[in-house]
Amino acid sequence: MIVTIDGPAGAGKSSVSRRLADSLGFQFLDTGAMYRVVALKGLRAEVNWDDAARLVTFAETLCLQLSGGQVLLDGEDVTQEIRSQKVTQVTRYAAGNVGVRHELVRLQREFAAGKDVVTEGRDQGTLVFPHAECKIFLTASPEERARRRVIDLAARGETVAFDDILQQQARRDEEDSQREVGPLRKADDAIELLTDGMNEDEVLQKLIEIVRRCQHAQR
Ligand code: DC
Repeated sequence: MIVTIDGPAGAGKSSVSRRLADSLGFQFLDTGAMYRVVALKGLRAEVNWDDAARLVTFAETLCLQLSGGQVLLDGEDVTQEIRSQKVTQVTRYAAGNVGVRHELVRLQREFAAGKDVVTEGRDQGTLVFPHAECKIFLTASPEERARRRVIDLAARGETVAFDDILQQQARRDEEDSQREVGPLRKADDAIELLTDGMNEDEVLQKLIEIVRRCQHAQR
């Protein structure tokens, strides 16, 4: 069974999707981490971001392990680094690159083949797994999402002003939904969950209910 969870940045998808996968006994795929890792490779190589072909080679030669909440690039733990502001700001070059997306989508399908998976991203229910048995669109208001992001960054030791985050987020929302390839869009058959005012445990309970309903509908 494939459960897709798509939604905008800061909707709290990552941690709750991971917990959902754990509680269902499913594998978890964090597709945002894949785009972030390609961007990190670019940063480290001091790539010219206009060099689209070079970014594609980074995706094609990825040696990536995603397991137990850790992201390993060539065996190195980059879990924290890929979530830094520095990487977040350049990930759009990876996400907007047709060749990179083509390669990462291939890897995502390969990862999910024959498994029970919760997969999280922007295009999972629309483009990567259009036949997924359970599709969820997880979202929250811009203010709520920015508030969560500020708390998240503070926990990592990065102090950023709320208004700056709100602005950056608006730009990312625009880029995410206007992208020519793999834009953020709610699949027609996705169930939407607005998480304003809900804590993570409450969101998790709702998600479990939704998946149970999908499982029931399949029988
Ligand atoms: O979910 P996230 O913030 O870790 O995603 C990082 C970036 O990657 C974000 O700018 C959107 C992009 N992304 C994407 O284009 N397609 C996906 N399936 C997942 C993420």
